[in-house]
Amino acid sequence: MSNALQRDLVRLVRRIEQEDGPRAAADPFRQRFHLMPPVGWMNDPNGLCRCGEWYHVFYQYGPFDPTGGVKMWGHYRSCDLLHWEQLPPMMYPDQPWDIHGVYSGSALVEDGTLYLYYTGNVKFSGDYDYITAGRGHNTALAVSRDGMTVESNELLLENRDYPPDLTCHVRDPKVWAQDGKYYMVLGARTKDDRGELLVYESEDKRHWQHINTLTTKKKFGYMWECPDLFCLDGQWFLQCSPQGVKQQGNRFQNVYTCGYFPLDGDFRGEYTLGEFEELDCGFDFYAPQTFADGERRVLIGWMGMPDAPYTNPTVEQGWQHCLTVPCLLRRDGKRLLRMPVPEIDALRGKQVAPEDASVFDMECHTKKQGRLVIRGSAVIEWQEGLLRLTIDGGGAGRTVRCVEVPEVQTLRVLADVSSLEIFINGGEQVLSTRYYPAPYTHGVTVFGAETKIWEMGSLQITKQQDVK
Ligand code: FRU
Repeated sequence: MSNALQRDLVRLVRRIEQEDGPRAAADPFRQRFHLMPPVGWMNDPNGLCRCGEWYHVFYQYGPFDPTGGVKMWGHYRSCDLLHWEQLPPMMYPDQPWDIHGVYSGSALVEDGTLYLYYTGNVKFSGDYDYITAGRGHNTALAVSRDGMTVESNELLLENRDYPPDLTCHVRDPKVWAQDGKYYMVLGARTKDDRGELLVYESEDKRHWQHINTLTTKKKFGYMWECPDLFCLDGQWFLQCSPQGVKQQGNRFQNVYTCGYFPLDGDFRGEYTLGEFEELDCGFDFYAPQTFADGERRVLIGWMGMPDAPYTNPTVEQGWQHCLTVPCLLRRDGKRLLRMPVPEIDALRGKQVAPEDASVFDMECHTKKQGRLVIRGSAVIEWQEGLLRLTIDGGGAGRTVRCVEVPEVQTLRVLADVSSLEIFINGGEQVLSTRYYPAPYTHGVTVFGAETKIWEMGSLQITKQQDVK
């Protein structure tokens, strides 16, 4: 299945990756153990799944412009989450229903086939606000049997099929199979600016019926992006990335937030949503998606933040953003704990002294009060239950983030070349952030903690250019 536009886009992406790839790859801020775009822009992880021996990670990819541009689905796959193949994009904006962007979505795996549900973005020209008019958000399905090429792509739902009280913003389908049926959640913005989730049901993966709407009693933001709904160890969780939630003390410090509600009852009928918990309190974490990997539930997020007041100097080298490391979710009552998947431990090399640490994995047992200063740029300080992260030089606009837990007892810090992921108390709270210390600097100063530090190796990424 291809058309002239797709054939041209395939060639253009290949050419821009060949021409601009070496400059991005030579950037001293290029990460070692995080997935990044080969060139240009990356945002949300999409279509995360395991299909046979392969893990697939698709992502919002804008190869022509490191500050955004038209989105397609970039593609990596791996057998072990450590060795990755960079494949050509899976989907290009080449259909009438996705001509201005193949937006976010998810994968359903059945009999070795990938069913990729996504939002096709269309922007009409004219004098529109692009919220209540002028935009098409279409739900579409692309099917791939070989996991590398799309053999059919069809439009399933358009704006006129959604409930009438909604704006044009209805997107990011997450689909799964349950009880002999298929379910889909879509994030939505109502005409009176409330965020909510539409629940759809289908018998055949193609015809969908709206069966319920999930929202809070009191308005919580104006749009819920990138929804996910899953059951972990007997408890349902509704995860989403709400826009428009105002800061409350140390909560919701970023322009957009991201977290989950525990859901009791039945998402298809009577339900209640519990207290919203943030999934991350750092500067750069948004639009995460989870997938079932056997008994495990794995989460990958985008280590970025849309419309943030801070930037990334990598734009000058023609690329921007990365994904988080894959994390394992565990349930603790009505809360989620998030820690790196154990596969990441295989990247640990020799143990190093704090003064030699640069790209590392660190485990700390903390005293009541303490401080870590990483590469002269990031300061992590805690006292009892309050932890503060200050980016003090090299923050590209990032300043301070605080998080509260009952008591800081342990920390695990994954420090890549230009990012930090800080896991408190086995994943009770996490802070993910990009930072830009002077290239090649090293050294961690430690007060109030017993630490073990391992130097970290790199993901192995090979390029499979000529599949299409
Ligand atoms: C979240 C998001 C999604 C949308 C995608 C477009 O970051 O705005 O809602 O599908 O990015 O790239």
